[in-house]
Amino acid sequence: MPGMTPPRFFALVPAAGVGERSGAGQPKQYVEIAGRPMLAHTLAALVAVPRLSQTLVVLSPSDDRFEAALPDCGAWVARVGGASRAESVLGGLAELRRRGAGDDDWVLVHDAARCLLQPAWVDALIDACQHDAVGGLLAQPVADTLKAGGADGRVSATVDRRDKWAAQTPQMFRLGLVERALLALGAAATDEASAVEALGLAPRLVRASMANFKVTWPEDFELAQRWLYQVGPSSR
Ligand code: C5P
Repeated sequence: MPGMTPPRFFALVPAAGVGERSGAGQPKQYVEIAGRPMLAHTLAALVAVPRLSQTLVVLSPSDDRFEAALPDCGAWVARVGGASRAESVLGGLAELRRRGAGDDDWVLVHDAARCLLQPAWVDALIDACQHDAVGGLLAQPVADTLKAGGADGRVSATVDRRDKWAAQTPQMFRLGLVERALLALGAAATDEASAVEALGLAPRLVRASMANFKVTWPEDFELAQRWLYQVGPSSR
């Protein structure tokens, strides 16, 4: 309709987790990779996307490291994180509303731990989803044969991989929709898409790259560092 403002695009980075699996002995977003805290790489990739109006990083209320570790990061900062990823995202959505975002604005939720994100992948996601009724996410078709494993460390079944995708982030939905979805599913939501799916909707899968992996296990830091040195963090 003429006179209506077009929806804007915001990025929201939940960074209030402790990252227990990383073995780092500190919140993993502050572990240095290629000379900068992991979170600095993640935010730099988002800040480099011109179509994003703003990036909001959600920290734990007890976080006392961010400003010293990431001076001048170019993002909005809010200490509104919760006990689960879903609560942290909901805190961030409320903060975006306080700062002027509305139901129809798009929010791209991105894991702090996916620090190899490339601005071009964010652009591809926006291109694929901005006229979609539901929204979507970056994802990668699964290449490996999938096994289900039992508590005894043995294979209990082989899982058909033909229609399987590994979900990544960013995950892009309208603020009003993703807020409703997360409120309905609660802490059980390990990503935004699963909450939207629980409403009976089908998010769009947008193929990205295996390089968009989530730094999770101790050996992942070394892998991410090698990759960042190769592409050059300065290219951000
Ligand atoms: O633990 P996991 O790797 O799945 O966390 C994914 C993302 O959610 C990370 O960026 C982490 O910092 C964030 N998170 C959060 N608040 C929590 C738990 C996780 O912001 N309570």
